[in-house]
Amino acid sequence: MSKNNKPVLLLIPLVCIAFFSLNVYAGHLEPFRSVPVPKHNPQTPEKIELGKKLFFDRRLSGDGTMSCATCHNPEQAFTDGQDISLSYPTTMNWRNAPTLINTAFQKFLFHDGRVKSLEDQALFPLMSAFEMNQNLDFVEEELRVVPEYVEAFKKVFGGDVTRERIAMAIAAFERTLVSVNSPLDKHLKGDKSALSEDAKKGLEIFEGKGKCADCHYGVNLSDNRFHALNVPENPALLNEPRVIATMRFTAKVYHYEDYKNLREDPGRYLITKNKKDRKAFRTPSLREISKTAPYMHNGVFKTLDEVLDFLNKGGGPGNKALKPLGLTGEEKRYLKAFLTEAPAGEDIAIKYPEVP
Ligand code: HEC
Ligand code: HEC
Repeated sequence: MSKNNKPVLLLIPLVCIAFFSLNVYAGHLEPFRSVPVPKHNPQTPEKIELGKKLFFDRRLSGDGTMSCATCHNPEQAFTDGQDISLSYPTTMNWRNAPTLINTAFQKFLFHDGRVKSLEDQALFPLMSAFEMNQNLDFVEEELRVVPEYVEAFKKVFGGDVTRERIAMAIAAFERTLVSVNSPLDKHLKGDKSALSEDAKKGLEIFEGKGKCADCHYGVNLSDNRFHALNVPENPALLNEPRVIATMRFTAKVYHYEDYKNLREDPGRYLITKNKKDRKAFRTPSLREISKTAPYMHNGVFKTLDEVLDFLNKGGGPGNKALKPLGLTGEEKRYLKAFLTEAPAGEDIAIKYPEVP
């Protein structure tokens, strides 16, 4: 072997390592494992219980009519079942309320990924003019006059009621909402009878011809990235004045130049102002997907069949993320069997807390 080959030979293992690490990561489905917990906010039973009380407490909204559970209802897999989410009376939201199951695994929260932790997220709906419309200084005082809360905060945090601690307790509760023991988990751990024959064929399509696992992989069936599939707009963004007002308000808050003429959801672009992010949204988890209709950031698809038809034709006009798949009716049926059956975990039993 001549000396000149050495650099080339050195490259071979490097290329192999790069190839191997890409391969085990992208496209690879993983069974459930415990959720990541940030060091500064460890889980304790008392904190989780406090967070649960706050989650169900209507005091958290400005006029005392709504709690987090109003839009993230345990009986509807922590969604509200609406296309465009419910909102503070007399206002409307502009997006679909995602489930809170497995949000602990998401690297980015909200459809446009504008927040990175559950602790940072929790105060957004509280303050938001079109959600709970609450004032944070006021809600602190509202909780400080309830002896049970004063005591609970002292016990859990060793101090007073603060907005940061409210958010920390709610986040701790949210980290308990996880999808476990689904047929998909059992299958991935080696139980060959966990999936029906149809669902097994569906899984093959999910990882193969359908290319779903290019973006929906890992424990949460999400790459934690953003893609512009060019999902059609919900007509309410053009027709419903309250939704239009919310859309423009949000765009104004995020310094969108021409917010007054906005007629679509700009998606991730709203946050990054990067052209490639126009109409891009975070890849959602598909865990519990059979329980969380309607679908997409704007709830524009009522059924999984509609979603599959959209994906099969290669997504919306002009998108660069998807190509037509050419799935037959039967292949779509298998894929749907997989989606409906496999990632559905045990129902999460919530014992409703007594709100002080
Ligand atoms: C009025 C309805 C409503 C209420 C009340 C509400 N939410 Fe939401 N929630 C939504 C909507 C809609 C979104 C998606 C918004 C977006 O992406 O822009 C969302 C998103 C979230 C997310 C991000 C989920 C994900 O997958 O990215 C979390 C976490 C969350 N809400 C927790 C809460 C908590 C905690 C409360 C109470 C403090 C609460 N929500 C109150 C409607 C609501
Ligand atoms: C290029 C990445 C990509 C590929 C490939 C892809 N998806 Fe998705 N998927 C997304 C994104 C991004 C969204 C969210 C779009 C939105 O909210 O507007 C989504 C949304 C969904 C939803 C709705 C989820 C919800 O909670 O609303 C389902 C169901 C779904 N995808 C299934 C599939 C299936 C099945 C395949 C394969 C046929 C597939 N996806 C291929 C990126 C992808």
